Amino acid sequence: MTQTDPRAHVMGLITACWTTPVIGVASRLGLFDALAAGPRADADLAAETGSHPGALRRLMRALAVLGLCRDLGNGKFELTEAGRLLRAGESGSVRGAALHWSDRLWGALSQLEQSVMTGKAWSISGQAGFEHMARDPEQMAMFHQSMADLTRPVARAVLDAYDFSRFSRVMDLGGSTGALMAAILKAHPGLTGQVFDLPDLADAAKTYFEAEGVSDRAAFVGGSFFEEVPSGAQAIMMKMIIHDWLDEEAVIILSNTRKALGRDGLVLVMDRIAPEIATDERSAYATMRADITMLVAAGGKERTRAEFEALFAAAGLKLQRIIPTASEFAILEAAPA
Ligand SMILES: C[S@@+](CC[C@H](N)C(=O)[O-])C[C@H]1O[C@@H](n2cnc3c(N)ncnc32)[C@H](O)[C@@H]1O
Repeated sequence: MTQTDPRAHVMGLITACWTTPVIGVASRLGLFDALAAGPRADADLAAETGSHPGALRRLMRALAVLGLCRDLGNGKFELTEAGRLLRAGESGSVRGAALHWSDRLWGALSQLEQSVMTGKAWSISGQAGFEHMARDPEQMAMFHQSMADLTRPVARAVLDAYDFSRFSRVMDLGGSTGALMAAILKAHPGLTGQVFDLPDLADAAKTYFEAEGVSDRAAFVGGSFFEEVPSGAQAIMMKMIIHDWLDEEAVIILSNTRKALGRDGLVLVMDRIAPEIATDERSAYATMRADITMLVAAGGKERTRAEFEALFAAAGLKLQRIIPTASEFAILEAAPA
């Protein structure tokens, strides 16, 4: 992580925030989609988006400096390979993440000082946060699109690292609109799966299962994991769930999960593992970024191995092994104690 020139390194860190709104605004205006068919003049793009021509040209030049488009001269710009990832509907698209970061997280991070002083999230967090989001369909769609964008590449890494073929029925707890479950079912034709999440996601999950061709083996069950987790699955996975919550709530989720499992059942927690000692390695960078984002925007936290073990013990579970994946996420496999 650390560059050779300490001053350039520190200046890069100090000013890092400028790229988030640049990419977010360009995504919201649909500039990456507008360039899909080939080079365009910035004047045309300004007319099409109703934006100020001079300001739009400056935005395009900023995107070119970031490697997301190429400045061809004479006011013309073309999309780069990296910029393609910000198109809607492109395979591997991260447009949802761009909108979520620029719309919600960027604003929340500006309130970090308050969270550091109080230890509490700045925005509406926890259960109230998810309920609040459910009342705003646009926010909710953006959040879950962002989750799917982040999860699709991780699903590949999870499949490479973990053998799901020994199960016939699995559940993804808090599985959002089904990105992880669909990837697992596509890789294992003998498997059936359930996504359990808040009831408002039912339609989006069903649409996703149909689009991925797994709707005959995938079901969506709506409910709250604070009340009850349905039984019947041999393995219950939960990706980026425990990190959303402080210990008390996390133990309730894990306890309800244990109650839903048979004696031979397994819990597969998929989360980042915080290092005991923070270093400037790349994986620690992503984990600390997530931890600070959780602190200010969601009220959760990233945990060390020891902290996970304590949570499992409090919920009547025992950590059996930790399986690293090629992504920043690890699989913590736990069984009823
Ligand atoms: C950070 S997202 C993770 C989504 C997905 N597992 C992934 O990694 O892409 C947290 C998920 O927990 C769900 N969730 C929040 N509260 C819940 C509750 N009380 N019961 C069930 N699901 C809940 C949210 O709707 C959301 O899909």
